[in-house]
Amino acid sequence: FVKSKKKCSQFPPGPKGLPFLGNILQMSKEYGNVFSVQYFWKKYVVLNGFEAMKDVLIDRSEDIADRPRFPIFETVGYTGENKGIVLARYGNSWKDHRRFILTTLRNFGMGKKSLEETVTEEAQYLCSAFMSKKGHPFNPHYLVNNAVGNIICLIAFGNRFEYDDHKFQQLLHLFDAALKAESGFLAQIVNEFPILTNIPWLVDRIMEPERNVFAFLKEMISEHKKTWNPNYIRDFIDAYLLEMEKVKEDSSSTFNEANLLLITNDLFGAGTETTTTTLRWALLYMILYPDIQSKVQEEIDQVIGRERKPTMGDVLKMPYTNAVIHEVQRSGDIIPLAFPHMTYRDIEVQGFFIPKGTSIITNLSSVLKDKHVWEKPLQFYPKHFLDENGKFVKREAFIPFSAGRRVCLGEQLARMELFLFFTTLLQQFTFEIPSDQPRPMEDPCYAFTLSPKPYNICAVARV
Ligand code: HEM
Repeated sequence: FVKSKKKCSQFPPGPKGLPFLGNILQMSKEYGNVFSVQYFWKKYVVLNGFEAMKDVLIDRSEDIADRPRFPIFETVGYTGENKGIVLARYGNSWKDHRRFILTTLRNFGMGKKSLEETVTEEAQYLCSAFMSKKGHPFNPHYLVNNAVGNIICLIAFGNRFEYDDHKFQQLLHLFDAALKAESGFLAQIVNEFPILTNIPWLVDRIMEPERNVFAFLKEMISEHKKTWNPNYIRDFIDAYLLEMEKVKEDSSSTFNEANLLLITNDLFGAGTETTTTTLRWALLYMILYPDIQSKVQEEIDQVIGRERKPTMGDVLKMPYTNAVIHEVQRSGDIIPLAFPHMTYRDIEVQGFFIPKGTSIITNLSSVLKDKHVWEKPLQFYPKHFLDENGKFVKREAFIPFSAGRRVCLGEQLARMELFLFFTTLLQQFTFEIPSDQPRPMEDPCYAFTLSPKPYNICAVARV
């Protein structure tokens, strides 16, 4: 008891000096499952491996359900109770908005037929765009990004854009630029030294793409307000405006126009790059492992055939394809450190004491690649999700969407997109490495996300 009490008075150990993503991912080997890193004067605690993550993120998820402050985002309006959803403190505003978004997505068909049809239709547009390349090499990144971006557009604004629409291209480009700037070094410095938000040119330099995104979204919202009809709700923005109307007498409500802007921005930010990157990994693995690609196609031919469009009802009948998609997510490991959490109360983890208000990094990568859990953690190996009879097996350590209270809110939508886009593409094409190009690399580009290095493919129509 004395030992454990003494131990419990300790803050987790860790190295000195500034960490960066690459070495946080490596540090667990040296410092164990719970360690701290110092970033300027702020301490972060990093949780690693399946056991520690299960203990806290899953079994005691409220204890770390809060989010730390991000001063750079305060400069564009993420302030007070208006913090959108991703950066919202754990409390009533977050709870009310999370419930509202999930219900609204469900009403628009999340997990139901209509959104499924929307995704299937978009997958056909994507196939037509791939077909127009006539088997010549191209980089699939932007077409995939257009298709995935359109799903959020359809949900939020009720309409899609053609892939060559200039305004849409600009918007996607701005989202990309905003994500890069906000996860870059300058933004991190400002987050650690909030006083720097008083330097206008510095803030402008980081937040200019975000401000332009906001200008676009504001225009969309004001167009919706002009044609809004409470008896005919067309999309997410309309539904939010209706909710605002319902609670307008309630002074404590945080459903207001400022938050609508932030939430819409969050849905784009969290829902586009992630799914796009996962599909880019999927196509990369298919050209690198043609045997696996053929097996997926065999299963598609058997269960769906060449004519009928894939549906979510097919997932359970397609264990191999399902295992491949899971393995793409495990191995691709696209958000290795999730988003920062913060302790909501004092907690003890594996004998260490972590006070309320401490920033927590959940190292999802260490779970998705945990050598105590996965047979071949560093290889692309779909059998991780298959038993000896070829049946699909769920794995508890599969947490690319994180887990607990702050688990990805779009998980169901993302799973639907991944399955429908992937099977539709492989039903219609075989993907190959262009004959005059070297084998693409499997190692990722490190940013906030882990994404494949740019590569070209040939999409050969299946006959
Ligand atoms: C949060 C992964 C797609 C909306 C997250 C988190 C992860 C994640 C790791 C952080 C959870 C945490 O803080 O512990 C992914 C992956 C996706 C994906 C891998 C695709 C393959 C989507 C989509 C949407 C979405 C399509 C849009 C509807 C969100 C939101 C949050 C979130 C709103 C914040 C939740 C909160 O703080 O309560 N996602 N996501 N995500 N995701 Fe996703």
